[in-house]
Amino acid sequence: MKLNEEQKRELEELYLSFLNNEKIQRMKDIPMHRGSNCYLHSFKVAKLAIRNGLRYKSVDLKKILIASILHDYYLYDWRKDRSLRKKHGSRHPHIASDNAIKDFNIDKSIQKIIKSHMWPINFLDFPDSKEARILGVADKTITIKEASSSKAFKKKKEAYYYNYISKLFK
Ligand SMILES: [Fe+2]
Ligand SMILES: [Fe+2]
Repeated sequence: MKLNEEQKRELEELYLSFLNNEKIQRMKDIPMHRGSNCYLHSFKVAKLAIRNGLRYKSVDLKKILIASILHDYYLYDWRKDRSLRKKHGSRHPHIASDNAIKDFNIDKSIQKIIKSHMWPINFLDFPDSKEARILGVADKTITIKEASSSKAFKKKKEAYYYNYISKLFK
C-alpha cells in the first residue's frame, strides 16, 4: 500500500496528537519490560504496526494506529499489587479498551482490536481482522525485543527511543 503525501500527513498528525496528549503521557509512569515504560512501548508498537500494515494492499492504517497506541492503556502498575498481577495478562486488554472508550471515545472495531491483542492468552478474543493480527504481531515483536535487552542497556538507550518515537515516519 502506497500512501500519498496527504495521507502520510494525516496519519502523522494523528500520531502526534496522541504523542503530545496529556492523558497519554500518563503511560510514562507505568513501568514495562526491563526499564521501558508503557508510553515508549506503545509508540514503538504503533510505528512497527504501521510499517507492517503498509505491506498490505488494503488495510485501515488509522485503526491500526489508534489501537496500537491505546492497546496497553490500562494505567496501573501491576507489579505493585498482587491482585492486579494475577490476571494482568488476560484482563489488561479489556481495561485498556474501557479506559480508551472513556478518554477517547473509540468505536467498536477499535475496541475489538485492542481486546484481541493478547490472543492466544485471551483465547476467546480472537483477532478476527487484518488490523488486529497486525497489532498482535507488532506487540509481540516489540515485547520480545524489550524483554531480551538488559535493564542497564535500556536506560542508556532511553533518549534514543524518545527520539525514535518522536515521529511516525522517519
Ligand atoms: Fe498488552
Ligand atoms: Fe503491548
